[in-house]
Amino acid sequence: MILYFSGSGNSLAIARQLAEKLDERTMSLYDALDADLLDEKRIGLVYPTYWLDAPMAVKQLVAQLTLPKKAYTFIVITCGALTNNAIWSVRKLLKQKDIQVSYSHKIRVPDSSALAFGRNPNAQAWKFDKYASRIDLIASEILNEKQRLHFSGFDPFGWLLNTSAVSRKVYRFTLPVVNPDKCVGCQICTKVCPQTNIHLSTGKACIGDRCTMCLSCVHFCPHQAVEVAGKTTLAERQYHHPSIEMHDLIRR
Ligand SMILES: Cc1cc2nc3c(=O)[nH]c(=O)nc-3n(C[C@H](O)[C@H](O)[C@H](O)COP(=O)(O)O)c2cc1C
Repeated sequence: MILYFSGSGNSLAIARQLAEKLDERTMSLYDALDADLLDEKRIGLVYPTYWLDAPMAVKQLVAQLTLPKKAYTFIVITCGALTNNAIWSVRKLLKQKDIQVSYSHKIRVPDSSALAFGRNPNAQAWKFDKYASRIDLIASEILNEKQRLHFSGFDPFGWLLNTSAVSRKVYRFTLPVVNPDKCVGCQICTKVCPQTNIHLSTGKACIGDRCTMCLSCVHFCPHQAVEVAGKTTLAERQYHHPSIEMHDLIRR
């Protein structure tokens, strides 16, 4: 079973591609909370890197999961470039549950946060050309139950960035904000938010305090009404993995 978390679809696309090659099924980490996974022989976790770490939601979900101790467990993360503690922190959570991660790797994809820095994630589509062979390699190593941890060491800088005092300031940068002048109350953001953290208030979307910064609401808003880092969201900078549609990301 491959468990995933995904905001703009990169991690879901990779989870699906790996599942096809491994003859596995995929399930969102949210659904996994209610699933019986104890008989699974192989457990994969696929999720993105946010701010040099695993997304806050991923850490919270993994902490709550009940997983088999003897399964071959692997982690594959997606990232724009630098992953620092994204594997390490989930490995640590699993270790507390007596679960050993046997294999880990990363795959570079377009950076869904690029628009917060005034860049266009769609301009990074060249990364797709490179990742196909990486997925083949990862799948064949997992099939052979290889014991190899890539990119899984501890990084003090990533840790410092994610300690509460520092992170409160840093995270504010990529917290999405609704522009009420543009919001028409269509509720697409309320549906794509994996955290169910957006609701309507007097006809406008309103973001609550459980945002994990996946930017799904920013990328899927048809009116470009959700903004990040004080920048106007431009339609050409909205991004989602080309094989993933909005309905793929809507929680059941
Ligand atoms: C808030 C935020 C922070 C990010 N931080 C990093 C980072 O520290 N390092 C990195 O390589 N990529 C970073 N990224 C890029 C994502 O890891 C990458 O685009 C990932 O594939 C998104 O996966 P998803 O579409 O499944 O959500 C960040 C993206 C977001 C939205």
